[in-house]
Amino acid sequence: MVKQYIVDNKDRFLSELFDLLRIPSVSADSRYKADVREAAEYIADKLKHAGAETVKVYETEGHPIVYGEKITGESLPTVLVYGHYDVQPPDPLDLWDSPPFEPVIKDEKIYARGACDDKGQVYMHIKALEVMMKQGPLPCNVKFMIEGEEEVGSDNLGKFVTANKELLKAEVILISDTSIISLDHPSITVGLRGLSYMEVEVTGPNRDLHSGVYGGAVANPINTLCDMIHSLMDEHGRITIPGFYDKVVALSAEEREALNKAPFNLDEYKKDIGINEIKGEKGYTTLERTGVRPTLDVNGIWGGYTGEGAKTVLPSKASAKISMRLVPDQSSHEITELFTKHIKAIAPPYVKVRVMAHHGGEPAVTPTDSPAYKAASSAFEEVWGKTPIPSRDGGSIPIVALFKKELGLNSVLMGFGLDSDAIHSPNEHYGIKNFLLGIETIVSFYKHYSKK
Ligand code: BES
Ligand code: MN
Ligand code: MN
Repeated sequence: MVKQYIVDNKDRFLSELFDLLRIPSVSADSRYKADVREAAEYIADKLKHAGAETVKVYETEGHPIVYGEKITGESLPTVLVYGHYDVQPPDPLDLWDSPPFEPVIKDEKIYARGACDDKGQVYMHIKALEVMMKQGPLPCNVKFMIEGEEEVGSDNLGKFVTANKELLKAEVILISDTSIISLDHPSITVGLRGLSYMEVEVTGPNRDLHSGVYGGAVANPINTLCDMIHSLMDEHGRITIPGFYDKVVALSAEEREALNKAPFNLDEYKKDIGINEIKGEKGYTTLERTGVRPTLDVNGIWGGYTGEGAKTVLPSKASAKISMRLVPDQSSHEITELFTKHIKAIAPPYVKVRVMAHHGGEPAVTPTDSPAYKAASSAFEEVWGKTPIPSRDGGSIPIVALFKKELGLNSVLMGFGLDSDAIHSPNEHYGIKNFLLGIETIVSFYKHYSKK
């Protein structure tokens, strides 16, 4: 019955999702402010149509938060669904095969910015509500909180959660904003990394200089910044910031064994992203390096002349954006401080250095023995015919740790994307099969959860 309804309404579901994907709700870029609001209104409208009540678009200092609920009975458990309708900037535009906000289907996949992260996955939840409403009374109470600032750090959502604890009262949080291992190997995410995102600016001479007249006698800030960055990691891929690993929880031999049991094909991994060899911290597997080990990466670096042709210049300034992915029990705040102190300590006397912190977030792990995890696991078994593998994802959803801290609630990270979906990249896409199976799995989750 559920399957049949989804099949019968597939074209409409997709066309509604396409309308959402056409709205360029880029939260990072203020030029899209009106579009971000339009996406919020669209979500609110679709929630109402699916059967949610008291749907409201809450204003914040930034982008709005959409809230809606369907309360069926006092005695039923309450599930709070979280997701985000904002998307990453589509740049670089010239690398897209079709325009990012004009969704198209190719090889049974939807191509558009946000197709997977997270509009496509949020929309599965709205359609799951519609499906359940057609079936009769819902097995659980359900609340929706869909925000528009996830991709820029969820600052205002944090405040909203703290201020609205009564409204958000629930037994568990359900989130589809992560990936499965593959269509053959469904998985449930049980860990996310945290984040400290920093910016470093190095200043040498008080103005750009002629690189012939001064070169060789004055330190070049770009060279100096590169030296400093280079020194942040040793030859074994270990980060050299004093104290960086102090709080990192080491996994037991059993935990490592379990984590490495997940299916992983190194050749396919390399082929997918076009590299000949992998590189990472010595002594750890790829799954460990992305799942349970912290990292440091330069996300952007600039300075000097980057325009057409060649300009001989010894620049005055150089900058880099550097992110660190964190694991339990590292704290974003502490790592930000350690980083700042260390950068200042290693800056040579011939430059001045400025360190700024952008957004951050705490790592999170979720239990596998909770009723909600078990319901999610049963839902995969019912719909996919396979027991999902618990897996640790390398990405971050900072609000998960905050839900635990502020509301005391665990999250179930039941995402349906694939690592190959190119989220945040050109040609982001989402499988129609993932979308449809996702709806079915969510419906099944509520059924199983209501019986726990
Ligand atoms: N949905 C992603 C996080 C994600 C992706 C987790 C895949 C697990 C698997 C989320 O939208 C995201 O991109 N988060 C940012 C952090 C945020 C503070 C900007 C990230 O991980 O870079
Ligand atoms: Mn996301
Ligand atoms: Mn994202």
